[in-house]
Amino acid sequence: MENKPFHTLKVGVFDSGLGGLTVLSELTKVSSGVKFFYLGDTARVPYGIRSDETIIKYSLECTRFLLKFEIDILVIACNTASAKATEVLKKEFPFLKIFEVITPAVEVVSSVAKRSVGIIGTPATVKSNIYLTRLKALNPSLEVFQKPTPLLVPLVEEGITDGKVAFEVLKYYLWEWKEKIDTLLLGCTHYPLLENSIKKLFPHWGIVNSAKPLAQKLKPLLNFGGKNEIRLYFTDKTAFLEDMVKRVSLKGEVKGVEIGNLL
Ligand code: DGL
Repeated sequence: MENKPFHTLKVGVFDSGLGGLTVLSELTKVSSGVKFFYLGDTARVPYGIRSDETIIKYSLECTRFLLKFEIDILVIACNTASAKATEVLKKEFPFLKIFEVITPAVEVVSSVAKRSVGIIGTPATVKSNIYLTRLKALNPSLEVFQKPTPLLVPLVEEGITDGKVAFEVLKYYLWEWKEKIDTLLLGCTHYPLLENSIKKLFPHWGIVNSAKPLAQKLKPLLNFGGKNEIRLYFTDKTAFLEDMVKRVSLKGEVKGVEIGNLL
């Protein structure tokens, strides 16, 4: 007989918009019998170009919204919010288990990179130096480069993840690292959708998508047997919302999608 858990685990995931669906996708792949509540703040994306105060304010509002569902675990899917708001959220909501995308990604990169690493992210994430500092602290022998790649977010939002334009923009940012690095860390929720194109241009690089190490870290906490249930919430109906939701594979039953002035 199936061992039914007394309490179904509820996991809240938030991102500045649609990109965090890549994180939700990885989380659902390693889970069973979990209820997921995803909030994409599509009305206010991007967070990556905003001030620290604004990123923290938005992150607090997203968390308060998800707390209405009595979540047990909060996942900050957004790298920018992970970099800027984790400490504040932990202080404000001490009863909540909070996970962010940066720590697990740094641990994996530190063990798989050979000599030099390139980190890409939003301007706010890169400016925080959080990936660079943590990586250097874990593995001081690594040479680490980083750069903001802000054009990649609208590119993905427009569905341009392959072909001439995507290749040109990727080359514009990454070509100078062609022989310089052996591992690339994708420090932004949107970039995994460009992973295949990056592989085509730089087949000799190892690529770490920050969502996967996080999913592996959480896996032991997320298995109860049975179907996952997924509810999606967005703060605005943006042009590519439906397309992105279709493009990302989610393991489980999508029980509902709500779009509106939620916060
Ligand atoms: N979700 C953001 C991140 O991972 C990317 C988009 C944005 O700037 O809000 O950093």
